[in-house]
Amino acid sequence: MKKTAIYPGSFDPLTNGHLDIIKRGLRLFDKIIVAILHNPAKQALFSIEERMEMLEESLKGYQNVEIDAFQGLLVDYANQKKADAILRGMRAVSDFEYEFQMALMNRRLNREVQTVFLMTGLRWIFTSSSIIKEAARFGGNIDGMVPAIVNQKVREKFNNKS
Ligand code: COA
Repeated sequence: MKKTAIYPGSFDPLTNGHLDIIKRGLRLFDKIIVAILHNPAKQALFSIEERMEMLEESLKGYQNVEIDAFQGLLVDYANQKKADAILRGMRAVSDFEYEFQMALMNRRLNREVQTVFLMTGLRWIFTSSSIIKEAARFGGNIDGMVPAIVNQKVREKFNNKS
């Protein structure tokens, strides 16, 4: 039986830390669906379409990866996609409580979908999309922290705004 995992998140924008989780997840699952949450509660820098485009470009060599967007409950989306698992990356200890809460709530909502955690690579433990955007906003160098296409799009956004 082929196993599919959903890797959900805001991806505003995708970072090398996310890529690391996706690549390592592909060693465990036959297919990974990278699912961008349309979350009105978070003020995004990039539109869903822009985020999808950056994900597609950054993952174009990977045949077992699908890129999609969703709204509403993650477990409903997982059901709809017939996924076996939700894949999450765990960074510092500070992620634990939120992830634990979310995994338990998701399990309560749908016992068929398992949450699988991978420890984020050491290099990416303290990165996040927001911290990278903040550095770039003030002219900081984000080379090596995000894929080349993301680097370019982030620069374009901030240059256009200034
Ligand atoms: N490397 C680098 N950064 C990482 C990372 C990694 N491996 N993994 C996560 N991050 C960063 C992200 O960039 C993001 O940074 P930001 O907050 O600065 O944007 C931060 O960690 C949070 O990560 P993300 O995975 O994008 O979480 P989220 O809180 O935006 O989304 C969902 C989490 C989508 C899984 C969750 O909100 C969800 O499932 N929502 C749907 C509703 C639902 O079903 N809720 C649960 C039950 S009620």
